[in-house]
Amino acid sequence: MVVIPAVVLAAGVGKRMRSARPKVLHTLCGRPMLWFVLEALREAGEVAPIVVIGHGADHVRRAIGDGVRYVEQPEPLGTGHAVMQAAPLLRDTDGPVIVLFGDTPLITPQTLRRLLEHQRATGAAAVLTSAVVDDPTGYGRVLRGGDGRVAGLVEEADCTSAQRAVREINAGAYVFRTPDLLEALPHLTRDNAQGEFYLPDAVLWLLRQGRCVEAVEGNPEEVLGINSRRHLAHVEGVMRARILDRLMDAGVTVVDPATTFVHAGVEVGQDTVIHPFSTLGEETRVGQDCVIGPHAHLIGARVGDEVTILASTVEHSEIGEGTTIGPYAHLRPGNVIGRRVEIGNYAELKNARVGDHTKIHHMSYIGDAVLGARVNIGAGTVTCNFDGRAKHVTHIEDEVFIGSDTMLVAPIRLGRGAVTGAGSVVTKDVPPRGVAVGVPARVIRYRAKDE
Ligand code: UD1
Ligand code: CA
Repeated sequence: MVVIPAVVLAAGVGKRMRSARPKVLHTLCGRPMLWFVLEALREAGEVAPIVVIGHGADHVRRAIGDGVRYVEQPEPLGTGHAVMQAAPLLRDTDGPVIVLFGDTPLITPQTLRRLLEHQRATGAAAVLTSAVVDDPTGYGRVLRGGDGRVAGLVEEADCTSAQRAVREINAGAYVFRTPDLLEALPHLTRDNAQGEFYLPDAVLWLLRQGRCVEAVEGNPEEVLGINSRRHLAHVEGVMRARILDRLMDAGVTVVDPATTFVHAGVEVGQDTVIHPFSTLGEETRVGQDCVIGPHAHLIGARVGDEVTILASTVEHSEIGEGTTIGPYAHLRPGNVIGRRVEIGNYAELKNARVGDHTKIHHMSYIGDAVLGARVNIGAGTVTCNFDGRAKHVTHIEDEVFIGSDTMLVAPIRLGRGAVTGAGSVVTKDVPPRGVAVGVPARVIRYRAKDE
């Protein structure tokens, strides 16, 4: 299959965003808007993106990575000028080339395929994407002739008042026959209201040469371009709904889509229920038959099947099958939690490994710790992991019973089946089955095998 080049314009300043950050790196559902454009291209077929960068070029390269080619536009002299920068990379192409804007992230692979198909079927020099919208403010308008064919394109700044009333807009997504595009580019001028080289003028030039120009109608939602923070919020809402629709179509229950926030790329298994006011961010994966929320916040969480997470925050941690978390637990990064574990109210865990069937209810801090299976952590237990200079590890072996309000001063190890008394401050290792009580704790006896 022939690989089709796609020029993605991402060099603009994005003045209307009022931001120090390049516009195309502003995020929607956790990913830079430019990422969605590249993703749509990837899903559309065998496409080789060429990203035109300029303002904040290094940031864009870093955020998007090496999967695409970059060309730099030294000065933002307009969309036509941006495409000119990619021209040297298109010289050997005689088939189609896609041209997209990095600030139009809702464009779908289906529309891109329709544009390509339409260009192939008609042999058109240019196929543009149009849409009829309620409010065309800010967009270039598509002008039709008496025969209904595209007769012109005009930027809003250059519109007459009659043209301003036209509600059919140019979405800025095109497929050109590459030789036609390359032929048109040198004819662009800056003779317009904004003093820029307009890409739509390349289409106009082709029209004037009598070449075939076609338009494919997209839906008004997918052509939304982001020029301001208000647009950003609006498009975020559309993107969020799309992500939730995809989850629901795959068998996830979303109780209230209006208050559920799921980042792009998050995976959720079948028959999981997501309750209101929950956010699933950054590379989170949730298994099947889970109950998430209300008020669950997951960031980089890897959650097994049948897990319940109620009103809690889980950051960059793994949760085993059948475990329950919350309400009001905070799992900071680096935890690996086993199966059927119970983590309850006001428990904070950081960098802890927790074995199967262990219980950590009520107001505990477990940091830099390795807990075995079937351990019971009493209310108010603290692993004192920091001595003011360094962090130390607490080891708690299988079936240890930690009494309420125990302070475990790390580094320390409690052997299998050990017990601590309520309120004890344990500063020395406790041997297997040892019962340690007091401040500082002393081993007063050993549990019998059947105890
Ligand atoms: C552009 C179109 C307009 C269309 C609208 C659709 C032109 C002249 N206008 O207007 O017809 O209706 O998009 O959303 O094409 N860019 C560069 N280099 C530049 C200028 C822009 O790379 O020198 C990039 C920007 O980063 C952006 C895209 O091109 O991703 C569009 O630029 P923008 O200034 O937002 O164009 P609009 O005014 O929205
Ligand atoms: Ca724009």
